Amino acid sequence: MGLLEHRVAIVTGASAGIGEALTHDLAKQGARLVINARRESKLQDIASAYPEGQVSVLAGDAGDPDLSVRLLDHALATFGQEADLVVVNAGRGLRGSVTDSNTEEWEEVVRTNILGASHLMRETANRMAKQLPDPASEPDAFAAQWKKIVETGGPSRDIVVLGSTVGRHISPFSSMYGSTKFAVNSLAEALRRQMAKHGVRVTLIEPGIVRTEFQESAGYEMEGFGAFMDTISPVLTAEDISRSIMFAVTQPPAVHVNDVMIRPTRQEYP
Ligand SMILES: NC(=O)c1ccc[n+]([C@@H]2O[C@H](COP(=O)([O-])OP(=O)(O)OC[C@H]3O[C@@H](n4cnc5c(N)ncnc54)[C@H](OP(=O)(O)O)[C@@H]3O)[C@@H](O)[C@H]2O)c1
Repeated sequence: MGLLEHRVAIVTGASAGIGEALTHDLAKQGARLVINARRESKLQDIASAYPEGQVSVLAGDAGDPDLSVRLLDHALATFGQEADLVVVNAGRGLRGSVTDSNTEEWEEVVRTNILGASHLMRETANRMAKQLPDPASEPDAFAAQWKKIVETGGPSRDIVVLGSTVGRHISPFSSMYGSTKFAVNSLAEALRRQMAKHGVRVTLIEPGIVRTEFQESAGYEMEGFGAFMDTISPVLTAEDISRSIMFAVTQPPAVHVNDVMIRPTRQEYP
């Protein structure tokens, strides 16, 4: 029996890289999933690897303010239960600093990485808080249900947010992208503090350099960046990050791995 058979997950940015690897790991552990990204055909290919009905596709732009509601409603309508594991992963990089990055891309980066992530964190947190009685106004009812969850091993409620090492350590070379991850890192930690009393885990994952489609879509000059990656090789794979996320979300409900920073062993900085 899979570790996640009773859980319903949503993964954004699931058509490639970390989101794709995580979709496979979650599905192999029996989770039912709604997967999202803009490229619907890639999502359909991924879903088709699993039994009919286990992985449902909802394509759309993560920067669309309505998407978070649609994703959560879709999970409930498809699986008859609210999502209890939501992975806020869709995002993109941007080559360059405040002085030399392409200003025409600023809006999309901010819209996807900060606003899209914030909408999904907000909607998910509000719904997850309502899945148990309010600990402030109904402390006894909350305590009874929380005790049962702890004793029976679930269900946990998880919001996993993809930040970055450049959301904690300033990198002047990718400062516009880094600034969006500083925002995401702080929003995730703030939400963790807010949701802890409800028994909801908000987990921040801060990867260093992971070889995915990210580098090309950020517009990195691949000859130079490839040479840099060679100096710290091997860099991380999407599967390495997925493994860390799986570790966090399969802990017992009363155990929370708050924050995982994961770099290639030979990456000093950022
Ligand atoms: N790779 C790294 O070195 C690294 C390091 C630290 C943090 N991260 C973070 O990890 C997350 C995943 O990155 P990755 O490395 O897996 O990158 P990736 O291979 O480029 O995958 C990004 C995913 O996000 C989706 N996406 C991008 N913009 C979207 C939008 N507006 N609406 C919906 N989906 C969108 C893409 O799908 P579509 O194109 O089909 O929409 C794709 O599925 C990102 O938040 C990134 O910032 C990555």
